[in-house]
Amino acid sequence: MKNIIVEKEGRILKVLINREKKLNPLDMETIEEIGEALKDESYIGIIAGNNKAFSAGADINAFLGLDPATAFDFARRGHEVMDFIEERQMPVIAAIHGFALGGGFELAMACDLRISHPDAYFGLPEITLGIIPGFGGTQRLRRLVGENKAFELASLGSRIDSRTALQLGILSEISEKYLERAGEIGKKYESLPYESLAYIKELTRNKDQDLFGREKEYFGNMFKTANQKEGASAFVEKRTPAFNSSINKNLFE
Ligand code: COA
Repeated sequence: MKNIIVEKEGRILKVLINREKKLNPLDMETIEEIGEALKDESYIGIIAGNNKAFSAGADINAFLGLDPATAFDFARRGHEVMDFIEERQMPVIAAIHGFALGGGFELAMACDLRISHPDAYFGLPEITLGIIPGFGGTQRLRRLVGENKAFELASLGSRIDSRTALQLGILSEISEKYLERAGEIGKKYESLPYESLAYIKELTRNKDQDLFGREKEYFGNMFKTANQKEGASAFVEKRTPAFNSSINKNLFE
């Protein structure tokens, strides 16, 4: 696997995201490699970033080449991997440092527990790029923090620190030794009855399929808009985007 490092110890499988760019932007190949590495559901998973961050989100450079159909497909494939992580039998723990933004945050939210370094930042900044979250983030954030806070964070594209994320219930704990702590919890899971753990996971992590479906559709729609093109171009050109904030009649009338 080109974009990740996989380490196994007993029934614990660690996936370290290891992209060439230090903030670990996620392209589809990397996301699929993560899903593939966790395919054996009997392993307890840990996902962490091997570089300067967990992940600063989907690779924005790749957005420049997407049209509505390929964007929908990107969201569909991303949803498949996130759903698989959420639905597989044994838990997956996200061990986070640096940034967990956009798709990186969505990946962390698809995991069953999140342990973070004290100096980490979280958020769904997609709106500032002229798009919306596309890997289930609107729904998983809503489940984690409730609809008011989820709307506030996603609609403003706000970035929050670890302490705020802990207070909001996004994190299980904060630790300087976040990766070690994830390993300790993994070991605890390894010693517990498999069937109980698998059933508890399934029963506590139920989801509303309809809104997840709509998120994929709307993500694809965003790539019909000039704002999406402006958002991605502005990021690549390192300038502030100039969005058109008037109603888009093609999408809403
Ligand atoms: N996709 C592609 N490249 C990314 C990226 C992403 N999501 N996030 C960061 N990078 C790249 C930057 O383009 C930059 O590349 P360069 O060194 O070739 O110029 C490099 O990673 C470092 O980023 P930089 O912005 O210079 O670092 P910073 O410490 O000033 O800021 C962030 C860090 C995370 C705040 C900032 O990079 C950022 O806002 N990234 C985008 C986050 C985002 O919107 N994610 C959601 C995507 S849907």
